[in-house]
Amino acid sequence: MAASILAEEPFSPRERGRGSIKEMAESGNLTSIPTHYNFLQSEAPQLPYPVVTEDIPTIDFNLLVNGTPDQRSQVVRDLGHACSDWGFFMVVNHGIEERLREGALEVCRDFFDLSETEKGKYVGRHVLDPIRSGTSFNTLVDTVFYWRDFIKVFVHPAFYSPEKPADFRDVSREYCTRIRALVKDLIKGISESLGLEPCYLEKASELETGLQILVANLYPRCPQPELAMGIPPHSDHGLLTVLTQNDVGGLQVQHNGKWVIVNPLPNSLLVNTADQLEILSNGKYKSVLHRAVVNDQTARISIAIANGPSLGKAIAPAPQLTDGEHPQTFREMTYKEYLEFQQSNRLNGKTSLDLVRLPNA
Ligand code: OGA
Ligand code: NI
Repeated sequence: MAASILAEEPFSPRERGRGSIKEMAESGNLTSIPTHYNFLQSEAPQLPYPVVTEDIPTIDFNLLVNGTPDQRSQVVRDLGHACSDWGFFMVVNHGIEERLREGALEVCRDFFDLSETEKGKYVGRHVLDPIRSGTSFNTLVDTVFYWRDFIKVFVHPAFYSPEKPADFRDVSREYCTRIRALVKDLIKGISESLGLEPCYLEKASELETGLQILVANLYPRCPQPELAMGIPPHSDHGLLTVLTQNDVGGLQVQHNGKWVIVNPLPNSLLVNTADQLEILSNGKYKSVLHRAVVNDQTARISIAIANGPSLGKAIAPAPQLTDGEHPQTFREMTYKEYLEFQQSNRLNGKTSLDLVRLPNA
């Protein structure tokens, strides 16, 4: 299958890896997509579940941090349900100003509008390069390409920023700092919801020096959205990912054998539980599979802030959550090792967690 796709393709895989999808999508009157963007031909599991709209759990952040003890306990229970049942929730009353959220989206758009040469300065070779700009997921291993350009920037514990656009640095620093504070409080609540000390997860992941990555995604208009995919089904590698988007939808999360279309409330933030939280909770909280579809009307931009443990920290299930009835499900592995594995393989369902899953689990 892959060979026949390549045979029709006028570019070598190396050349394919260079250009942005933005440049191609905006050049001339593209009416169909090149063969190597046809996701239906990919080896990735297609997961042809029904696509539905459902209400997703909502967490009132203000009640979590400023509420009465009763209100806080209720939000902690809500968090527990959201994490065990969905692995996904929408945060309202988070206190991050609309101006800042929109400013962050704007500087990311400005980055994608830079020349190919400027963006090309950040074509990274290694997953731990602190600034990487590119297209698809990992063009060295993708057999089918995704309708997506991205920039990934490490913003904590050391802060990096591309030089251009000029205000990327200040805006991204402020936005990511605020998101980090939000995540710290959410993680406390999630820790409590597991019956652990509020600080357990924070300490077990060394969140103070945790790796935080800003991932901005651009999904240009696509002439055949039913054939292409923005990001295929995957789970994220960290603890919690916080996502925002311009007013264009595209994110879908898997829930009870369906793809649920996510329509966030204005100015809310979307949070999904990721692999390291599934490991720490000994599988009680699942890292949710999600994907991003594309459309033929409007370009979509999203910013996913991945918040993870400290790179060198070995992550294993909380011993308090394992017993005779609940044997340990995952073995210990440093976050760095995990990340290198996840990022250098194809996005393909949820295979990364299999790396640490114990045989008896
Ligand atoms: C991601 C991701 C979804 C989106 O960047 O990991 O899942 O809606 N993005 O852009
Ligand atoms: Ni993701």
